[in-house]
Amino acid sequence: MGTKRILIVDDEENIGRSLQWILEGDGCSVTVCRSAAEFQSAGSRFDLYLLDVRLPDGNGIELLRQIRQQGAPAPVIMISGHGTISMAVEAVRLGAFDFLEKPLARERVLLAVQHALDRWKLERENQSLREMVGAAPRMIGDSAAFRGVVEQATLAARSDARVLLIGESGTGKELLAAHIHEHSPFAQGAFVKVNCAAIPSELMESELFGHEKGSFTGATGLRRGKFELADGGTLFLDEVGDLQQASQAKLLRVLQEGEFHRVGGEKAIRVSVRVVAATNRNLEEMVEKEKFREDLYYRLSVVPIRLPALRERPSDVRALAAYFLDEFCTRNNFRRKCLEDETCAVLEQYAWPGNARELRNAIERMAILCQSDSIPVAAVPAEMRIGRAAGARSSLQEARECAEREHILRALEQANWNVSGAARTLGMERTNLHKRMRSLGLRREAV
Ligand SMILES: Nc1ncnc2c1ncn2[C@@H]1O[C@H](COP(=O)(O)OP(=O)(O)OP(=O)(O)O)[C@@H](O)[C@H]1O
Ligand SMILES: [Mg+2]
Repeated sequence: MGTKRILIVDDEENIGRSLQWILEGDGCSVTVCRSAAEFQSAGSRFDLYLLDVRLPDGNGIELLRQIRQQGAPAPVIMISGHGTISMAVEAVRLGAFDFLEKPLARERVLLAVQHALDRWKLERENQSLREMVGAAPRMIGDSAAFRGVVEQATLAARSDARVLLIGESGTGKELLAAHIHEHSPFAQGAFVKVNCAAIPSELMESELFGHEKGSFTGATGLRRGKFELADGGTLFLDEVGDLQQASQAKLLRVLQEGEFHRVGGEKAIRVSVRVVAATNRNLEEMVEKEKFREDLYYRLSVVPIRLPALRERPSDVRALAAYFLDEFCTRNNFRRKCLEDETCAVLEQYAWPGNARELRNAIERMAILCQSDSIPVAAVPAEMRIGRAAGARSSLQEARECAEREHILRALEQANWNVSGAARTLGMERTNLHKRMRSLGLRREAV
């Protein structure tokens, strides 16, 4: 490795000086800035940044954002004083590699810097590898409910049928869409995502179908739309329930006719694209209220797949938590950590309104804040622990209900949600099964 160029931004003169001394002693070339303003004129050709969280004329998080936006960003380590730990944690969530607490110990500084540089190099290598071979998404979860969903998705993937993924926010719709792509005949093509909620309706047509040069003010060149970019691959229409009426009509047309025109274009363009759509809204209800076109709904949902909320499959929480924890520690070059049994039990109790995404965030936060290798229940954010005390059920009963829910769900799914059929398989009365389903909160929603 050549000499590493390091930029330090800290307003405390003695901190800047001692860091410079430590790092120059290790063969690095060091520049020190005393303020955000000085940082702005320091240039951007550095291999690593050490940023104080609090600066006289700004804060380190703003600088972190700037660095992340540069073309070839470098790793950032935050320096936090007493009372700014929560900001440092936030910075790690935003992509800082690590944080150092004042007072700074020489060994700890050198270790953090070395880790960051090594890790960075590895990431860059991995990234070019991924670009060559593609990364298969990993679907974690062994509950019958979740496995059933993955199975349906894998079967649907083999055809070119359009799939509609329905599920609450954070249940893994995008992940499942990528899974469908990987297991489909379109896997060699691109996976192209359109966020229907984020694009204003007047730009939607150009976004989906592209435009010819000069077709409207601002159309300075020819632009290919997402349908063209996805030719031979998969087009993922995320948040499809948020499409405006006008865009719904345009989308319907291409799905019916299999061809489209660029905005301002004469020629009809044909592509071979597998469409997967997703929504966290109740589209059936929207159709009833005439907020979503019925004909478009049927075009999109040839195979509808509902992703169960995390609270419907609490037995997946443990595996997901372990997976997120491992992934986080590896990515940040932290020592491997694990969750104590009781910690998992508490996490299983919580209702997870934000589903897997909320769990991932909670785990990352715990991993950052907890110093020990095995994360105790005390590290679980307080609001997630409250539900448990209120419920105050015995753990044996919890385990029993959990197993029962799984078992009944599996029978219902096998019987295609025919309750009499499932009751026969389970050897119980139909009315009894209805009662158990009610008390376990099992019902078929918008499948
Ligand atoms: N079964 C799973 N195994 C591994 N990771 C998962 C799983 N489910 C969800 N995740 C992770 O949880 C996060 C949220 O998943 P994803 O973005 O796919 O959800 P979503 O349903 O598209 O949410 P939204 O509706 O908010 O867009 C992602 O980081 C994803 O990788
Ligand atoms: Mg999503």
